[in-house]
Amino acid sequence: MKRIAVLTSGGDSPGMNAAIRAVVRVGVRKGLEVFGVERGFCGLIEGRIKKMSFNDVAGIMEKGGTILRSSRCEEFRTTEGRKKAAVKLREHNIDGLVVIGGEGSLTGALILYEEHTIPVVGIPGTIDNDIGMTDMCVGVDTCLNTVVDAIQKLKDTASSHERAFIVETMGRESGYIALVSGLTTGAEAVIVPEVPVNYDTLSSRLLEERKRGKINCIIVVAEGAASAYEVARSLENRIGYDTRITILGHVQRGGSPTAFDRLLASRMGAQAVHALLNGDHCTMMALELGKIVHVPLKKVIENKKTLDMSLYNLAYQLS
Ligand code: F6P
Repeated sequence: MKRIAVLTSGGDSPGMNAAIRAVVRVGVRKGLEVFGVERGFCGLIEGRIKKMSFNDVAGIMEKGGTILRSSRCEEFRTTEGRKKAAVKLREHNIDGLVVIGGEGSLTGALILYEEHTIPVVGIPGTIDNDIGMTDMCVGVDTCLNTVVDAIQKLKDTASSHERAFIVETMGRESGYIALVSGLTTGAEAVIVPEVPVNYDTLSSRLLEERKRGKINCIIVVAEGAASAYEVARSLENRIGYDTRITILGHVQRGGSPTAFDRLLASRMGAQAVHALLNGDHCTMMALELGKIVHVPLKKVIENKKTLDMSLYNLAYQLS
């Protein structure tokens, strides 16, 4: 293996730059030529492949987003699109590809390997923390800190005005962001797609607490469960608070990565290069009980992450 490439794909997440930096620097130190692919799989199809040096990745670890930019690439979902991508990699004599992204991107990497035997290695980069076989994905910790900070601020104004706030978080089909941010801010309720909500029971409980003297109420809802507007409609005039809605949106994806994300991304980036060099192809770098391990991509895709119900129960107990 002499020439490797790295790309970021799908929704960006804080820490992707730290992962790119680690791939480039460890690759160069191992005597490889390292290339960056711009705009994810779309850029690969277009042949937007440029050589990267040790210095090209200086000062990027603290930056949010991805310096390689990203895309959600419809064409790569087609056999023809993946064939074009494989041709571009071969034209540039690329021997191995590191894909940093979420579930869709890692699935794309797996199919590229299966169809064209291109050595690929994945790094889980998504705020959703919905990827199987890894305890954490790059970007989750920063996202949670952003959400916690926002909810804390909303709690201040909620208390001043004796209001309820319904806060909608991202997460696609996963309730992880809502659950952990709700648990760590002491939210009164967390609504996630994995657990059906009973609005009668919920409104009775919140009204009871209001009558007992509670002066604020935070309800965190994951986008995959319901919209904040739907929750507001279902609880309207039933919980004893004037209610406001906040949809956090893409603010959750930005910002300078936390130390945790920088460390995780650096470790996974370095391991991705080792995996390519050791012939440990078609694997994903995963965090398992504090260690970075290589898990077959097929296993990752077949084992979707489920919500930790002990955390859900704890959030309920502590609310
Ligand atoms: O997967 C990351 C994520 O931010 C999800 O939480 C969200 O549902 C989706 O991406 C939003 O995608 P887009 O930025 O394409 O609107």
